[in-house]
Amino acid sequence: MSRPLLIGPFTQLLPMTGLPLKGVLKDEQLTIIENGGILVSEGKILKVGAFNELISDDVDIHHIEGNHVCLPGFVDSHTHICFGGTRARDYAYRNAGKTYLEIAKAGGGIWDTVTQTRKAPQEELVKGIIYRSKKHLKNGVTTIEVKSGYGLSVDEELKMLRAIKTANETSNATLVPTCLAAHMKPKDWHQDRDYLDVIINELFPIIKAENLAKRVDAFVEESAFSPKEINPYFQKAKEMGFDITVHADQFTTGGSQVAVDFDAVSADHLEASTEKEIQLLAKSNTIATALPGASIGLGCAYTPARKILDAGGALSIASDHNPGSAPMGDLLTQASILGTFEKLSNTEVLAGITFRAAATLRLTDRGKLEAGVQADFVIFPTDNYQEITYHQGQLKPSEVWKQGTSVH
Ligand code: NIG
Ligand code: FE
Repeated sequence: MSRPLLIGPFTQLLPMTGLPLKGVLKDEQLTIIENGGILVSEGKILKVGAFNELISDDVDIHHIEGNHVCLPGFVDSHTHICFGGTRARDYAYRNAGKTYLEIAKAGGGIWDTVTQTRKAPQEELVKGIIYRSKKHLKNGVTTIEVKSGYGLSVDEELKMLRAIKTANETSNATLVPTCLAAHMKPKDWHQDRDYLDVIINELFPIIKAENLAKRVDAFVEESAFSPKEINPYFQKAKEMGFDITVHADQFTTGGSQVAVDFDAVSADHLEASTEKEIQLLAKSNTIATALPGASIGLGCAYTPARKILDAGGALSIASDHNPGSAPMGDLLTQASILGTFEKLSNTEVLAGITFRAAATLRLTDRGKLEAGVQADFVIFPTDNYQEITYHQGQLKPSEVWKQGTSVH
């Protein structure tokens, strides 16, 4: 066993511990360790505390010079960074006032990315995932969920999930795969059998056998799958032991009810949620996930994050990084901007991209800094944590550590 490594001192160290999963968070509740240090061994945290008290003859030291703030590595719990091609044309059309239907008719929308992703060999998809995950890692994101959903056939969904698995083997960030075979109804489906029936009976067992994902997602929306249509898909996923997550209430309501009925780990989007859905989610175990990148990319309303927290709900924040609705892919920028529109405290924003996001992925070993968890942390060159959201993503990490190793 190698000698433990002590990293610090940090002007401020925010362990993000001792905070509830649900409800309002005030900045006064935040634990701030001044002149803090982290003791690391074998990729895990041994101890967090005052730097001077952690110094001993038995440890090596990685000195941090000057003023720095240290936080848990960020968790992006919702992305679509496995894709081929671009949708810059959609973006221009949207900004020229074209409607969703007009854009789809002109060959745009999700189906355009399906066509481009199907053309890409698996190795090309792997390269794209690694390229994008490196950018996230530089911005402090050490765990990234990645969805399939641009394959929309058994073979093409498998190609995507296998690409995510391969990318995870070389990526410094952890990639958490999710099967989104119900992203939309494939336009080229001409078989007698129902598409979802084939997915359930042919794709799900292979995903299990190859351990390609533990999570299943669907887009519940008028333009994709209705609550009734998606029922057998989630029913089967649940029976097979998958965690459920839902693209819910993005343009019309209905998805959050499905999420709660299936005890989903998260309901994501929620831009169209009304008081009824907010109350429903707040009383449930399902974590509400705001995707401000999609609001910015589409020019739509933000998720009612303030109301969700005030009602006692759990709120995580993710980038939704995808070629269509959310091409920016900068979690900290988007979370900070959501904070300004929705009047969130710094602690609510930071919780939304650390331990509350980790909970949506059922990961209890990250998103906070304490003994026993993965040594994933991000270091910002400032003396005050408030500077981080204040700069809306333009204050970049000076170092990013993953499992006890400096990776940026
Ligand atoms: O989360 N809403 C559905 N799916 C994605 C968009 C995917 C795309 O436009 O390619 C989303 O915003
Ligand atoms: Fe999405």
